Amino acid sequence: MKTDSHKDPSHVFNFFLNRDYISIARAKGIYLYDDTGKRYIDASGGPILCNLGHGIKEMAKVIKDQAEKVAYVHRIDFTNPPLKEAAKKLCKASNHAMDKVFFVSGGTEAVEIGVKIARKYHLDNGKPFKSRVISRWQSYHGSTAGALAWTGATKRRNDFLPYLHDFNHIPPAYCYRCWFNKTPETCDLDCANALENEIMCLGPDNVSVFLSEPVSGMSLCGAVPKQGYFERIREICTKYDVLLMFDEVMTGMGRTGKMFAYEHFNVVPDILALGKGLGGGYFPIGAVAVPDYIHKKIADNSGMFGAGHSWGGNPLGCAVVSKTIDYLYEHNLVEQCNKMGRYLDHKLQELTCHPLVGNIRGMGLMRGIEFVKDKKTKKTLDPKFAFSARLSAECLKLGMFIEYSGGCDRGQSGDMIMFGPPFIINETQIDQAVEILKKALEKDLFSDNNTFLTF
Ligand SMILES: Cc1ncc(COP(=O)(O)O)c(C=O)c1O
Repeated sequence: MKTDSHKDPSHVFNFFLNRDYISIARAKGIYLYDDTGKRYIDASGGPILCNLGHGIKEMAKVIKDQAEKVAYVHRIDFTNPPLKEAAKKLCKASNHAMDKVFFVSGGTEAVEIGVKIARKYHLDNGKPFKSRVISRWQSYHGSTAGALAWTGATKRRNDFLPYLHDFNHIPPAYCYRCWFNKTPETCDLDCANALENEIMCLGPDNVSVFLSEPVSGMSLCGAVPKQGYFERIREICTKYDVLLMFDEVMTGMGRTGKMFAYEHFNVVPDILALGKGLGGGYFPIGAVAVPDYIHKKIADNSGMFGAGHSWGGNPLGCAVVSKTIDYLYEHNLVEQCNKMGRYLDHKLQELTCHPLVGNIRGMGLMRGIEFVKDKKTKKTLDPKFAFSARLSAECLKLGMFIEYSGGCDRGQSGDMIMFGPPFIINETQIDQAVEILKKALEKDLFSDNNTFLTF
């Protein structure tokens, strides 16, 4: 919200520099409370991150206890018990599809390290020309120069294009607006086959890794590829010795109703990037997990992977990861996420007759809605209205935070919101959240006096 007359007088450099931000003083369960005591449903768990729910004392205690024992040692010089424990638990959570884990401080770092692991693997495999990264348009992989270059969300890239290396993007798996003008009935996976074309044009000897979100995050708000898509992608990657890297920063740790989203698609990636929910919403931490053959190639050859950041593998964050995994199992939260996700989807179907609701999609507790001006033609709303930003602001007034996004029509226009609440949400709370959304949709969201900004 742009309120020029009322700029934030604090010393904080905000995302929206002219917005009056609500100050959240505490949080419990699925609720946030501002400093006047007003309550908000956290319907997106921040940026689809707070998987466990707010205010869990056990989570706070684990941080306190670990900080008292040892908060920091450098991973280049030492190991530490929480690091080993967290890596072990994460590999076990993957049913040992993954065998080694490299911890970092967040999702962007995980993507950067994953791509570097791919490069190192090829170097140590005697294929020094394999360096190109192929990813998809309308994806989001993070905000550093590398991760943003692989990102395909136009608006998020544009300001920083001069700093981004030229990498290659293929069309997204986005059935609602298929780039090949196919319907699910006529689909023959052109969007997957596009990977083979791209690899051929670049020269297979030059391509290192294909990077993809298994289910799209905020850039396409829950777009799920057709079954068979990732099997075809896996086939192409294997054929050309291109590693398959899944960015599960958002989808990982149960968000889609399985511990990892790749489990839905009958494939196993060569590199798995995690973040967000890995720390349950209690600590900034990410990770890259790989199967044994990736690690072994590097261990048996150069024996060194000279990348990483100072805070990587710190005991504090790793203790939180272990506790998060235990908590997910102890409280059966992945199953709960799956169950509540289905209920949320069922409730959201009540909105299908709304004239602006074009598509409802997603998996688990990651459910997006795309709004359109015309349901038949799928024409997008005029970006000047910043509809989704306005809708989200209206929800906030009514007591619910929900994330919004734009650019789903080839980066230029489009309006979406995404539900991604903590896994502990129950049916009554989902009913309340959907009621708030319905009420917000009744407001006039098309006034010309627009003070909202989208991204
Ligand atoms: C799919 C995906 N990858 C990477 C990132 C970057 O993670 P972070 O913001 O923790 O650096 C995000 C963040 O939204 C994401 O959704």
